[in-house]
Amino acid sequence: MKYTEDFKMLMDDVKEVLISQDEITQRCKELGEEISRDYKDTVPIIVGLLKGSVPFMAELIKYITIDVELEFMAVSSYSGTESMGDVRILKDLDRSIKDRDVLVVEDIVDTGNTLLKVKDLLYSKGASSVEVVSLLDKPSRRTVEIEAKYVGFTIPNEFVIGFGLDFNQKYRNLPFVGILKEECYR
Ligand code: IMP
Repeated sequence: MKYTEDFKMLMDDVKEVLISQDEITQRCKELGEEISRDYKDTVPIIVGLLKGSVPFMAELIKYITIDVELEFMAVSSYSGTESMGDVRILKDLDRSIKDRDVLVVEDIVDTGNTLLKVKDLLYSKGASSVEVVSLLDKPSRRTVEIEAKYVGFTIPNEFVIGFGLDFNQKYRNLPFVGILKEECYR
C-alpha cells in the first residue's frame, strides 16, 4: 500500500487506516457545497481552531464557492475533572466578529467541552450566529449537549491520529485518519 511506503516510520504506529485521503476529499466537496448553499446570502467568518483543524480547513475551503473570511484561534482546555473543562485563549481572533455569521472549524468533537466554551465565547464577542463544522465526531464520548451542524465522519470510540489530529504533537501530517496502536499511548 502506498501510505506504507511514503510514511514508513509513522505507519509503524498505525493500527488501521480508518478514513482514506480520497474519502476525506470527497466528503469535503459535499460539505463545501452544503456550506456554500447555506451561507449564500452572507459572508461568513470561518474560524479555524489551531492546530488540529488546519489540514481539514485547507481542504474544505477549496470547495466553498461563496465569499468568506478566514480567522484562526487557539484555545487550550484545562480541567479540574475530565467533565468540567474550561477553556483558555492562547491566540485570539485578529478582527471583530460583531454581527457576523461565524463557522468554527474543528478536527474532532469528543466530550464537546471545547466547542461549548468556544461557542459561548464567540457569542459573547457579538457573533450573530455560530455553527460548527467538524471533520470527525465521536458521539459516544459526549458529556455536554452540543452537536456540530456539519460533520465529516462519525467514528467509534477509538483514539485517532492524522489529517491534523495528534498524539503529543505527532502524526498531524499523515494524509489520512488512522487508529493509533494502543501501545503508543498506554
Ligand atoms: P473535547 O473538548 O473533549 O470535545 O475535545 C476536543 C479536542 O480533543 C480535539 O480538538 C482534539 O484536539 C482532542 N481529541 C479528542 N479526541 C481525539 C482523538 O481521538 N485523537 C486526537 N485528538 C483528540
